[in-house]
Amino acid sequence: ADIVETSFHVKNLTVNRLCQNQVITAVNESLPGPTLRVKEGDTVVVHVFNKSPYNLTIHWHGVFQRLTQWADGPEFVTQCPIRPGGNYTYKFNLMGQVGTLWWHAHSQWLRATVYGALIIRPRDGQKYPFVKPYREDTIMLGEWWNADPNDVESAALATGAAPVNADAYTINGWPGDMNTCRSNITYRLDVVPRRTYLLRIINAALNTQFFFKIANHNLTVVAVDAAYTNPFQTGVLVLGPGQTTDVLLTANQSPGLYYMAAHPYASAVGVPFNDNSTTAILAYPNATQTTPILPALPDFNDTPTAFTFSSNLTGLVTSPFWSPVPRTVDENMFITMGLGLSECGANQTCEGIFAQRMAASMNNHSFVLPPRISLLEAFFRNVSGVYTTDFPDRPPLVFDYTNVNNSFNQSLLMTPKLTSVKKVKFNSTVQIVFQNTALIGIENHPMHLHGFNFHVLAQGFGNYDPANDSRKFNLVNPQERNTLGVPVGGWAVIRFRANNPGVWFIHCHLEVHLPWGLGTAFLVENGGTPESTLPPPPADFPQC
Ligand code: C2O
Repeated sequence: ADIVETSFHVKNLTVNRLCQNQVITAVNESLPGPTLRVKEGDTVVVHVFNKSPYNLTIHWHGVFQRLTQWADGPEFVTQCPIRPGGNYTYKFNLMGQVGTLWWHAHSQWLRATVYGALIIRPRDGQKYPFVKPYREDTIMLGEWWNADPNDVESAALATGAAPVNADAYTINGWPGDMNTCRSNITYRLDVVPRRTYLLRIINAALNTQFFFKIANHNLTVVAVDAAYTNPFQTGVLVLGPGQTTDVLLTANQSPGLYYMAAHPYASAVGVPFNDNSTTAILAYPNATQTTPILPALPDFNDTPTAFTFSSNLTGLVTSPFWSPVPRTVDENMFITMGLGLSECGANQTCEGIFAQRMAASMNNHSFVLPPRISLLEAFFRNVSGVYTTDFPDRPPLVFDYTNVNNSFNQSLLMTPKLTSVKKVKFNSTVQIVFQNTALIGIENHPMHLHGFNFHVLAQGFGNYDPANDSRKFNLVNPQERNTLGVPVGGWAVIRFRANNPGVWFIHCHLEVHLPWGLGTAFLVENGGTPESTLPPPPADFPQC
């Protein structure tokens, strides 16, 4: 195994998109930022120099961080931010994962432009469990904002209004030529006829779930979130923010130009969204036509198509990295999650029946981060008063979660703001039933767990019914993921083994729901041996 060492210089940069100049924060003057290419088992060392005017942290989305949680990155969960002018070196190993992950800022809304791919190939002597691709390419879906995304976040917190939408969606940083401002560059992938390509597709958007298609071509899914799947043929992909999908594409159509395109899967009812598509071009040699063929994407609210895709993926049990589903459960949790309200804060204008601010919650707790120390440091140094360990295993009341009219209950609507985490013993097995709630609005929430992959045992619509729905659990070959869209108006059941000590964030990867409190953390205790005990932080660990 090798050591892959690189530097990230993070600073403001002026770029031109949608026919105007905009100052963004970027890594090494590129959007998306640099791609990290490693082999399974390699050690990654990234020196981050913060030359931007903002506080900054970088998160390595989906990396297990075995005994290296000081490198995980979420601000005030594992570390204090790297101040402007400061630097910090992230060092971690990539053992036991092959496929596509990514990295992004985990501080305010900086990840709008501070993101890039993390590509993990098999180590020397090992192969993919599928046909060797002729070439590989990375397709990063993102958002473009004509405003500073940090200002949009501040507005969402101050007024409680849902933020305005991104001004465009992007593929590898470019909105594409379907947008009104056509002088933009459109990403182009030139293919050789009959060859097979491995495309690594990453949803790096802040708040947008995407449908993705390539005109006239079928795709074969072979991995999600850097975990191999059984080959799954499909015309359309669905990706929530944070998710990755690796697909095989064979250039088996008549020579021509074909668009690959993405537009929102807008699961929320009544929330306005930008209905533009972002496009890139798949180009065969000697194409005679000038306008590429456009794929017919599903309707914006096509939940059945999204569900069919998400619920039919299965894990590849013959993968060298497959871990069997734990058959016993030590921690059995039922977590309701959704949007609600919190008290109107000082200096805020709050009017009408909702004389409060938007909030989001899990089991009636709106999660707030500690302001001056990270949860992980507080855990490691036994600092009291930073968090409590009373995150409940069950919601306070049971009601019809999925029906706005039946469930409008003030006591559940107004959630207290707490820093409560769930403490579990080292190596315990955790099962979570996520139940989507509909107190205000109803939508598909992409839930992300730091530090672990989980198995997705089952998912469905309506209220979870323990007697019947537990019989649907796939304990044989469920898909393994780090981010799962809990179906709109429905539920999902996940299971994982808490075999890595630390404080692991679990939250909705829709960026607007994070500051509203849709999250908590698992505090995994040390196990008592050197292999199960978190070592001290590195010497350059950022201080508050
Ligand atoms: Cu990709 Cu906590 O995030």
